[in-house]
Amino acid sequence: RPVVALVPAAGRGVRLGEPTPKAFVPVGGTPMVRLAVDGLIASGAVHRVVVVVPAELVEAASTLLSTTTSLTGGSMPPVPVQVVVGGAERTDSVRAGIAAAPDAAFYLVHDAARALTPPELIARVAAELQAGSQAVVPALPVVDTVKSVDDAGIVTGTPDRAHLRAIQTPQGFAADLLRRAYATDVGATDDAGLVERLGIAVHTVPGDPLAFKITTPLDLRLAEALLADCSR
Ligand code: C5P
Repeated sequence: RPVVALVPAAGRGVRLGEPTPKAFVPVGGTPMVRLAVDGLIASGAVHRVVVVVPAELVEAASTLLSTTTSLTGGSMPPVPVQVVVGGAERTDSVRAGIAAAPDAAFYLVHDAARALTPPELIARVAAELQAGSQAVVPALPVVDTVKSVDDAGIVTGTPDRAHLRAIQTPQGFAADLLRRAYATDVGATDDAGLVERLGIAVHTVPGDPLAFKITTPLDLRLAEALLADCSR
């Protein structure tokens, strides 16, 4: 049953402070989106990849990703990578990805900015879907105490940290379910948020610190340092 990875890479990434859209900023010499797609293919759990980019970068992305299919070597069939145009919000970009892969049985939605995600984590999410879960997210315990605040910055509550998790990607979904979640027109900071609103149980699998989202200049330095360690 085809597992299609959707890679939203159409964000501007203003928090990173780079002139290039974030997914195209190089880490250790390789653009983030390429690293993210390589990781998906290396997991061996993905049959096809749809990458969603800003309109002006479709050609550049196609060139950049055209050689990724060779990565799997002899043992697996090549994984096709398709590039489509995204939208103003992340949800618009994911919607464009869904539309480009109507044949999927499962979707894995994976941020390009989580460029160093270990292939084992991706395989873990896919395995949980194949085992029957409808919605799966990688989760890590939070190290900080997290508080809610009002508009004036006054603390309004302190949820019990033992029941909080930081959620990463790829997030995996039965294809029908994700299509149904995206048929509604509400915003959400992650895809599982839309599925939760349908009253469907979202399962967690252990996340990985290496799947952190490269968001700020500090994250970029961390990612560079980690890649430099690997290549040593
Ligand atoms: O902005 P944020 O870090 O939450 O973005 C997460 C991912 O969603 C990034 O890979 C980014 O490129 C993507 N995105 C997108 N289209 C948008 C906004 C963000 O594909 N309009």
